[in-house]
Amino acid sequence: MPHISERYTDLPEATIGKLLKLAAEDKTVLSLGPGEPDFSAPKPIVALTKKFADTCNHYSPTGGRTELKEALVKKLKKDNNIKTNPDNIIVTCGSQEALLLATACVCDVSEQVLVPNPSFLGYLPTFELFNAFPVPIQLKANNNWDINPSELKYYIDKKTKAIMINTPANPTGNVLSKKILEELADVARDNNLYIFSDEAYEKLVYDKKHVSVGSLNGMEDYVVTFQTFSKTYAMCGYRVGYAVGPSLLIEAMRKSHIYTTLSAPTISQMVATKALTIDNKYIEVMRKEYDKRRKYLVKRLNAIGLPTITPNGAFYTFSDISAVHDQSFKFASDLLHEQKVAVVPGKEFGSYGEGYIRCSYATDLGIIKKAMDKMEKFVKKHQR
Ligand SMILES: Cc1ncc(COP(=O)(O)O)c(C=O)c1O
Repeated sequence: MPHISERYTDLPEATIGKLLKLAAEDKTVLSLGPGEPDFSAPKPIVALTKKFADTCNHYSPTGGRTELKEALVKKLKKDNNIKTNPDNIIVTCGSQEALLLATACVCDVSEQVLVPNPSFLGYLPTFELFNAFPVPIQLKANNNWDINPSELKYYIDKKTKAIMINTPANPTGNVLSKKILEELADVARDNNLYIFSDEAYEKLVYDKKHVSVGSLNGMEDYVVTFQTFSKTYAMCGYRVGYAVGPSLLIEAMRKSHIYTTLSAPTISQMVATKALTIDNKYIEVMRKEYDKRRKYLVKRLNAIGLPTITPNGAFYTFSDISAVHDQSFKFASDLLHEQKVAVVPGKEFGSYGEGYIRCSYATDLGIIKKAMDKMEKFVKKHQR
């Protein structure tokens, strides 16, 4: 067989795919695996998609349609207190593509990015694809899964180019406070580093307020903010996200974007422009439902002996499974086979996620309740 690159063969093998495939194939499985909203896109978005169907067959300008970038400037000012202009924005095929482009334009071979661990499973492979080196920064449950800015100095050297952060976070649900973000901003400025701030779940916060590190004074040269329509508007399949950051870097990303996807889908950009103006009630309905499920799930998980910190954002819980097992993959696969409940092993999110499982509450409350009854049986049977 002809050669396959080491870049590919060295990529970590995600078991989540296999588990979720098994769960999707067997309709009797109760899945707490999904990483995307279970809601349909709000009605006005569906109507706009139909309306634009006749007029979207052309490419869009690389880097984004002007009207969308102008609408995003207003959105970023109003919602995130980030003052910017269209030249500082790139629209991409989901925020994942924006992260890929930022990595390509910031990191040369063997340069380093500090990456919280556990964290979103898209980060490590993205950095590794470009032969950049992700340096794991351990997050701990007993520190509320917060990143500790004062620890970062031990990991920064001349090869370090960026600090990855994610607030609200997947898989822990952690929301970083303004104080921590200010401390991180100081670290970035003092060491001339970028902060890559993934804010995919910015609108899914409960009891806390989301703060964008890019809104802090003097950070416009240091922060690349990644946001998306995927989670807020339940528009994952539209593949439209964006990054805002220093204009030179955004221009470099735009040039590279010509060779990745050329442009984000035209219809998605047209719909996204209008989505920014739909009534907030459509987002609130989803957020309130997630909140209800969150409270239920956290209570049940703790009651059955899987200690879980109450998440303040996103739609995941991250639970300590030490009452049963040290190995999250074994826990998840035994649970799937014995009780037909799918969860994601914590190790999928990095080595420091071992000993935990992620449950998603982007699924119907009725399913969550049944899944928890089955998980309770499983824990009782295997408790050590
Ligand atoms: C933390 C985080 N960032 C980014 C993404 C990717 O989002 P997008 O659909 O905008 O590419 C996800 C998707 O699950 C995510 O959980």
